[in-house]
Amino acid sequence: MSTAVLGLQWGDEGKGKITHLLARDADVVVRFNGGPNAGHTVIDRGVKFGTHLIPAGAFHPGTLSILAGGMVVDLEVLAGEISQIADHIGRVPDLMVAENSHLILPYHRLLEELEGSGAHFGTTRRGIAPAYRDKAAKVGIRAGDLLRPRVLEERIDRRLALLKRLWPESAEMQALSASGLATELLKAAKPLIGSIGDATGRIAGALAAGKRVLFEGAQGALLDIDHGTYPYVTSSSTTFAGLGNSIGIPSPEVTRRIGVLKAYTTRVGEGPFPTEMGDPLGSELRERGGEFGVTTGRPRRCGWLDMVAVRHALFVNGATEIALTKLDTLSGVEEIKLCCAYELDGTTIDRFPLAAEALERCEPVYEVLSGWGESIDGAGRFEDLATEAREYVQRVEELTATPVGIVSIGPAPEQTIHRKL
Ligand code: GDP
Ligand code: IMO
Ligand code: MG
Repeated sequence: MSTAVLGLQWGDEGKGKITHLLARDADVVVRFNGGPNAGHTVIDRGVKFGTHLIPAGAFHPGTLSILAGGMVVDLEVLAGEISQIADHIGRVPDLMVAENSHLILPYHRLLEELEGSGAHFGTTRRGIAPAYRDKAAKVGIRAGDLLRPRVLEERIDRRLALLKRLWPESAEMQALSASGLATELLKAAKPLIGSIGDATGRIAGALAAGKRVLFEGAQGALLDIDHGTYPYVTSSSTTFAGLGNSIGIPSPEVTRRIGVLKAYTTRVGEGPFPTEMGDPLGSELRERGGEFGVTTGRPRRCGWLDMVAVRHALFVNGATEIALTKLDTLSGVEEIKLCCAYELDGTTIDRFPLAAEALERCEPVYEVLSGWGESIDGAGRFEDLATEAREYVQRVEELTATPVGIVSIGPAPEQTIHRKL
């Protein structure tokens, strides 16, 4: 049986924790989108890690980790992650990188600065949009090119020549050389060369053999390039629909599609956010929930749970269940608000508007639930949760018509309640 773990908000829902937990029972774990813009927190045997590229399954011996074709890979970041995990688990994790995944080069990061898009959109400044843009413009460099050094250098040379013409005033751009970049890439890729190959074949083989395959999404549905709050989105397909394309298998049989949903909402960077909280509650929740970016350390904007957005996210993911995370962070909040609809220009709507300009004008319509005072992070069973906490979970189920199969009440793997659906 295969499972996918997908973000239902603007990222940072707790996908890393859920993937790491479920990966104990997986043979293969596949990351399928994005690149080192992701920051997934994993607590493995008491030690905390922030992973950016490698799937959270890499912590479990015997699990194969695959970076699928839809990803953009920064080799230096990946090499650093491999050695960190190897030190921790005592062996190099079993890894495969899709030959058709794209590479992030130093000029991609530089372009984000030169064009000012990093600052304008509040991106992670990891070169994500320029790398995906090069892919679409057919001037990208792929992991498979590392296997043919001459082709690699030729491709970089062609791309760099144009970039140098476009940015004559950038000393940094002018200082780059194709041979230098190719040499750096090949050096960083050395321990990985044997792992680059036909990921589609490997995943298809695993599925056909009945192996347990777990897919790890990065970012969240509202950051999806097509179905998110464009242009305040990332550059990849973050939903289940994007998964099939990334791995090259049109309708992979993934029976369990878990949408990870934080019990409130956060967003990093710019863009509309109807349920954003003002201070002091916003900053109080940020401190309590430790809402600071794993990748950039930036403070995350905090807000109430937005069921209009969540219903949209569940739909575009075809999610079969929800994993509700960070419920413990709401303990002690007297009144908890849930946004059930929007007011847009005098009309009540319950569909999520895709135009950022329209979303900007939406006023949330809230219902208010009673909070709970006691801490819940030690609860072993659903029945052990405070009555109001259980009611909150049940209200989420009602408003989404989707079961909550997992309730997460702390960052550690054991702080998790699995419910029978
Ligand atoms: P991801 O990008 O979706 O993997 O999420 P991040 O790792 O960026 O952010 C989630 C943060 O919440 C991390 O610091 C996790 O350790 C933490 N976390 C995950 N689940 C829970 C939970 O149920 N309760 C609490 N208090 N923290 C959690
Ligand atoms: P995980 O996987 C939260 C946001 C950035 C910015 C926008 C575009 O940890 O949930 P990009 O660098 O991708 O071009 O930035 O997307 N963003 C994330 N926010 N979690 C993430 O990943 C994110 N990945 C990108 O903050 O607003
Ligand atoms: Mg994150």
